[in-house]
Amino acid sequence: MLISEVPAFRDYWYPIAYSADIADEPVAFRIFGEQYVAWRAGDGTVQAAVDECPHRAARLSQGWVTDGCLTCPYHGWRFDADGRCVEIPSADPALPIPPRAHVDKVLAGERYELVWVCVGMPRADIPDLHEADTAGYTLIHEMMEVWTASAPRIIDNALDVSHAAWVHRNSIGSSANPRLESGPIERDGSTINFSVTMISQINDSQQRNTGLDVGLTRRTTHATLVQPFVFRGRMVYEENGLEHVLFKTCTPIDDETTLFCQFIARNDDPPPELWDSITAVDRQVQAEDKALLEHVNPNFPIEPTTELHTKADRMTLEYRKVLAELAATAPHVAPDAEWATGAPR
Ligand code: FES
Ligand SMILES: [Fe+2]
Repeated sequence: MLISEVPAFRDYWYPIAYSADIADEPVAFRIFGEQYVAWRAGDGTVQAAVDECPHRAARLSQGWVTDGCLTCPYHGWRFDADGRCVEIPSADPALPIPPRAHVDKVLAGERYELVWVCVGMPRADIPDLHEADTAGYTLIHEMMEVWTASAPRIIDNALDVSHAAWVHRNSIGSSANPRLESGPIERDGSTINFSVTMISQINDSQQRNTGLDVGLTRRTTHATLVQPFVFRGRMVYEENGLEHVLFKTCTPIDDETTLFCQFIARNDDPPPELWDSITAVDRQVQAEDKALLEHVNPNFPIEPTTELHTKADRMTLEYRKVLAELAATAPHVAPDAEWATGAPR
């Protein structure tokens, strides 16, 4: 299965930038192989549209924002937050602006300091990632980077804890302890929940991250597939009660390329000067995953017989079922009114 073969994937929200990065200039982004532009409108909301001017197809992202309006670099047409053209400099101002002079907007919103877009008809809201905006937890962004790997392969890897003993043998994994203790898998619609306990290595950088002594520890991950390309893993260290909640989102740039975003929420109120050292382990772990995943076939088999599965692969087998069910659904053409208004969120 390639991303482009499942139209339903378009019907979810995906991060495309940090909120702080959509400021005074239009920003180009690519999703599902198509070019879009995001800009901050006069009312402070982020807006997004197909990156093509209705006049002569110029790239609007090469333009600029004036008085909250997106200005085309070719002939200076200006578009407001609703995408309507409000000025055609070469035309007689007494003449009406043609109603077709508008950009093709897509839904855009902000949450968790991220800009999210949906280019289809939403099947769900921007995902509710509880700890990421709940009092008592500190939100820390770790990375947003382009990976040459497909979105389902990256999420499959996140749901697959048994690889840690091998891919992460130089960081958190212990190849001397490859067996896991896992509980039952719970399905709720397209959401999957399960818990798994692994023996984790505490090296020097993990020591700074967890406050635990160097050696081995039992680490339980309460994992959730929140949406097809959104993962949440609540890691609990049994010795000290530390919660390190990891969020991974994958924005499909195309069949083989993904904008990977990772952020965490911690319950130990870490001061900002410690954030770099706290996130160092996660960055190392992700670099290990990236090095492997960028060489894995981006085509992701959703039929259960193509690849082999063991008991330790139950979670990722369930993931294939979720994606297969989604692939079999009809295109979503009847939008929920609340989500389809195009109103800034
Ligand atoms: S192409 Fe955009 S104003 Fe002409
Ligand atoms: Fe990994």
